[in-house]
Amino acid sequence: MSDSAQNTPYTTNNVGIPVESDEHSLTIGDTGPILLQDHYLIEKMAQFNRERVPERVVHAKGGGAYGTFEVTNDVSQFTKADLFQPGRRTEMLARFSTVAGEQGSPDTWRDPRGFALKFYTAHGNYDLVGNNTPVFFVRDPQKFQDFIRSQKRHPRTGLRNNDMQWDFWTLSPESAHMVTWLMGDRGIPKTWRHMNGYSSHTFMWVNGGGEKFWIKYHIKTDQGIDFLTQAEADELAGSDADKHRRDLYEAIEGGDAPSWTMYVQVMPFGDAADYRFNPFDLTKVWPHGDYPLIEVGRMTLDRNPEDFFVHIEQAAFEPSNLVPGIGPSPDKMLLGRLFSYPDTHRYRIGPNYAQLPPNRPHSAVNSYAKDGAMRYEPANTARPYAPNSYGGPAADTARFGEIAGWAASGEMVREAYRLHREDDDWGQAGTMVRKVLDDAARERLVSNVVGHLKAGVSRPVLDRAFQYWRNIDKNVGDAIATRVNGA
Ligand code: NDP
Ligand code: HEM
Repeated sequence: MSDSAQNTPYTTNNVGIPVESDEHSLTIGDTGPILLQDHYLIEKMAQFNRERVPERVVHAKGGGAYGTFEVTNDVSQFTKADLFQPGRRTEMLARFSTVAGEQGSPDTWRDPRGFALKFYTAHGNYDLVGNNTPVFFVRDPQKFQDFIRSQKRHPRTGLRNNDMQWDFWTLSPESAHMVTWLMGDRGIPKTWRHMNGYSSHTFMWVNGGGEKFWIKYHIKTDQGIDFLTQAEADELAGSDADKHRRDLYEAIEGGDAPSWTMYVQVMPFGDAADYRFNPFDLTKVWPHGDYPLIEVGRMTLDRNPEDFFVHIEQAAFEPSNLVPGIGPSPDKMLLGRLFSYPDTHRYRIGPNYAQLPPNRPHSAVNSYAKDGAMRYEPANTARPYAPNSYGGPAADTARFGEIAGWAASGEMVREAYRLHREDDDWGQAGTMVRKVLDDAARERLVSNVVGHLKAGVSRPVLDRAFQYWRNIDKNVGDAIATRVNGA
């Protein structure tokens, strides 16, 4: 509650005029008609009718908190980004979410979790909009909309539909690595505090000398990884659908501020062409043995927002918010995302969303953008056009030579990525099943897949699913087929 609100002893309407009653409408006599001139009643009803903005088309259910990012290791040889310079502390906002469920859906449904971070840096907002997974289901933005529709509700029944999910997955073998991850223990984290975040995508870092590197972010939980079994998650979906939102809020409120340590994998720019996996393919990781983790800093979330709608519902994360020293990579998914997020924000919360409290940079805004619905900050530009001779801002053209880009040429094509030596859709998924999971985790993976396939998946999708799993790992595929077929 703001100070001014605390000092106001009486209710007012939205423009500060004292109101006569919080409880009684204005009528002619106690049984008479309600008067149109009861503008306070009408304001209350009209405002209420407009309380909702559309929910996010994906990642609708979530929660978040403010915090601080503190650099703990000198990575200035890799990036000049202000927020990663030694000793720097940067204010930030984090939002965690499920992907396919709606606003009211249970937090414990099996799904990847969004891991969206906004850093209020000296050079504007830097957004790192990742997931709790190092990979993703598809590698071309053309397929994202189709993928999401296969995970959402069936158009006829309005029900979630496992047949649609497996139909899409088994027709899209590039999904195998991510589906293996999702069906394993980490597919249902115990709480948001007990999961890692990953950029998933490869980004570019540029140092003060203009040298470029390819990097991947790993943001590891300091609380330790923990998960829910399918049975625990199913129980919680009924008994406490807001389990994860509640957990984060209560931990911070109780003074138990969660933290994560950020690392990067750094690939020298020139390695990309010949690396054994295509380093820009979002369905692949870079094995730690090839590119070890280098510590960067720690983020601590210690402040619950004073108003959930203002700060979390209206939070607008966008992978296109890249600050000097950080750029995109040729990952087509990332390049597609650069367009998508600002576009959805303009639709969902309006063209001036960047002026709202969670989205407002903590550094100066000298943009020539003007007007539009709900604008409340005047443009800081002397004249509404550039160039002008009245002292308006001018672009720092010295930055032009600093584009975080790469050489590209060729005919216009619609093609898959060039395959690198060890690229295929099954290999890394198989490595996870055989080398990362122990027997108990493998058994839970099989049991989770069997439960999912038995819930409404029909032939021929079912047969394709068995083959899909045999391609990942013969033993796991056989076990799944046997148990689904009831043998
Ligand atoms: P490592 O043995 O160095 O890494 C394996 C990683 O797997 C661990 O560091 C951990 O990631 C992650 N992991 C552990 N248990 C699970 C689980 N139940 N579900 C999902 N991930 C888990 O081997 P490599 O780097 O050579 O990778 C081997 C395989 O591990 C890959 O093919 C990939 O499937 C998986 N993996 C690799 C990651 C990477 O960036 N290299 C990241 C995550 C998974 P963390 O340390 O991030 O908790
Ligand atoms: C949310 C599009 C892939 C992480 C969203 C939203 C859209 C979207 C439209 C809703 C945003 C909002 O209303 O605020 C896309 C497209 C993708 C893609 C087009 C691929 C081409 C990914 C990937 C990741 C990711 C690969 C993670 C690595 C997120 C997160 C959110 C989100 C975390 C929620 C942000 C928040 O908390 O507000 N995405 N997405 N998305 N997406 Fe994606």
